[in-house]
Amino acid sequence: MSVSYMTHPLIKHKITLLRKQSTGTNEFRKLIEEIAMLMGYEALADLPTADIEVTTPIEKTIQPVINGKKLAVVPILRAGLGMVNGILALVPSAKIGHIGLYRDPETHLPHEYYCKLPESIEDRQIVIVDPMLATGGSAVAAVDFIKARGGKRIKFMSVIAAPEGVSTLMKAHPDIQLYVGSLDRCLNENAYICPGLGDAGDRIFGTM
Ligand code: PRP
Ligand code: URA
Repeated sequence: MSVSYMTHPLIKHKITLLRKQSTGTNEFRKLIEEIAMLMGYEALADLPTADIEVTTPIEKTIQPVINGKKLAVVPILRAGLGMVNGILALVPSAKIGHIGLYRDPETHLPHEYYCKLPESIEDRQIVIVDPMLATGGSAVAAVDFIKARGGKRIKFMSVIAAPEGVSTLMKAHPDIQLYVGSLDRCLNENAYICPGLGDAGDRIFGTM
């Protein structure tokens, strides 16, 4: 598996603002979306293109366009939903799947409650989005579900990751490409990322 750590100053700046306890729900949502778009720009650098004919005011020419119909964005519910519009700003024709997982507060193990993927998933470039990669349990389960339904070409985007999560995901799924906005220090006793940003789902949806 390849892991790409984001180095762009705009991504770093926006992740710093996201971390602040004083950042409210409205700003948090906006930042997550902007970060997803900037990370998506990096993660989709190898998207396949197809040549089409266009007529300029001067002449006819053959030029490349993105083959966007083959992209599937799959947020892990809930928090991954906050990243979807950032990717759609880049590839509006992408199809959207959903995987519902929540971490048991005691065991920290993921539980599935929903999975719906676009048709022909086996032919698509799949981009799973979830702001937090903590123990890696949810990420591994999400990739397991997608592979069990035929998905093959998988990228995973997380805004903040713990070293434990990166290593667990790498071991379980060495064939996927992982994109990380910031690699943080460690997990605490409740399996929250330190310094992290707290509970991403609660901060996006204003729950607690
Ligand atoms: C968060 C986060 C990830 C998961 C990461 O979701 O959005 O899906 O935890 O933790 P892990 O790497 O230890 O599995 P959560 O389970 O809190 O659900 P929510 O998005 O519905 O709040
Ligand atoms: N899920 C979150 O939302 N935050 C963490 O720090 C870990 C898991």
